[in-house]
Amino acid sequence: MRDDILISVENLKKYFPVRRGILKEKKYIEAVDGVSLDIHKGETFGLVGESGCGKSTLGKCIIRMYDITSGEIYFKNKEIGKLKSNEIKSLRNNSMQIVFQDPYSALDPSWTVAKILSEPLMQKKASTKECIEKGKYLLNKVGMNEMDMEKHPYEFSGGQKQRIGIARALMANPEFVVCDEPISALDVSVQAQVINLLKDLQEEFGLTYLFTSHDLSIVQYMSDWIGVMYSGKIVESGYSKKVYENPLHPYTKVLLAAIPSIYPEKRKEGIPLNLEILDDLSNVHKGCPFVYGCEYAEEHCRECKPLLQEVQSGHFVACFHYSG
Ligand SMILES: Nc1ncnc2c1ncn2[C@@H]1O[C@H](COP(=O)(O)OP(=O)(O)OP(=O)(O)O)[C@@H](O)[C@H]1O
Ligand code: SF4
Ligand SMILES: [Mg+2]
Repeated sequence: MRDDILISVENLKKYFPVRRGILKEKKYIEAVDGVSLDIHKGETFGLVGESGCGKSTLGKCIIRMYDITSGEIYFKNKEIGKLKSNEIKSLRNNSMQIVFQDPYSALDPSWTVAKILSEPLMQKKASTKECIEKGKYLLNKVGMNEMDMEKHPYEFSGGQKQRIGIARALMANPEFVVCDEPISALDVSVQAQVINLLKDLQEEFGLTYLFTSHDLSIVQYMSDWIGVMYSGKIVESGYSKKVYENPLHPYTKVLLAAIPSIYPEKRKEGIPLNLEILDDLSNVHKGCPFVYGCEYAEEHCRECKPLLQEVQSGHFVACFHYSG
């Protein structure tokens, strides 16, 4: 494996068991279904897709908040998919963190900011003095005041809470941070500030991100590489500019059409999405998951699954329309 790859995922599956129907039959939600990807050091891998496609589950599997069903996850060439719980704890304390979507529920309301920020370092047996000094330093870095250390989360706006969440994620000097829809719960007026803050911190600390969002334009702005996720699978991936400027998969075109864009000419390229049909995914298990939303669908799309294939340099798509 190449040295500039920090995270490598191979054929990752995460199935959640659920009980359905009057007989409470055991079934599985295939939240992540055979995903492979590489994330390069110091870069951002942007994961985009609609609600429920598996973005958070994939991020949480990679940092081992979830046990995986099968597949392999490598961090710096070391397989971490099957680590035991004490090893996972050490990995997360030292190398991997997450910024959650909802800053309102991510912070314990009864704790002061000082305690919230100290907790990740306490896990590493740091002294109180070290925790407080680092906490003040990072609060400054995220554009807040060290006087805020003694306040509680309810005393802050959503954007400020998310800044505290970002500072907390950076306390233990992680190399890899999952930014799981970090701006979607925020007021539009502060979204750009938080995005630019994440970019600045990435440059200053050499961070590697997995950034998730359902908004293709934000993912494009943030990312070096984009993975488009649909129904637990990556259906298109490639250099950010290529995917955004020349989307190939019919579903990516739908995502582009959904952007409340200031570029109306881009919107025309999209096709309408029939959500009612897409909700009923039980019939498409055999073939392409997007078959009922796709204007190019042919008979074999219902029978066979298209594999992700490189159709142009640095641009992959899982669609028979391109690969035959
Ligand atoms: N703990 C769980 N138990 C059972 N099913 C789950 C669990 N977590 C997620 N799922 C299911 O897995 C699928 C993927 O969920 P996930 O939260 O990863 O989607 P997402 O792309 O992050 O969506 P959103 O954009 O709404 O955050 C969904 O069908 C969801 O209902
Ligand atoms: S494989 Fe077929 S159904 Fe699926 S996106 Fe491509 S053309 Fe459409
Ligand atoms: Mg999510």
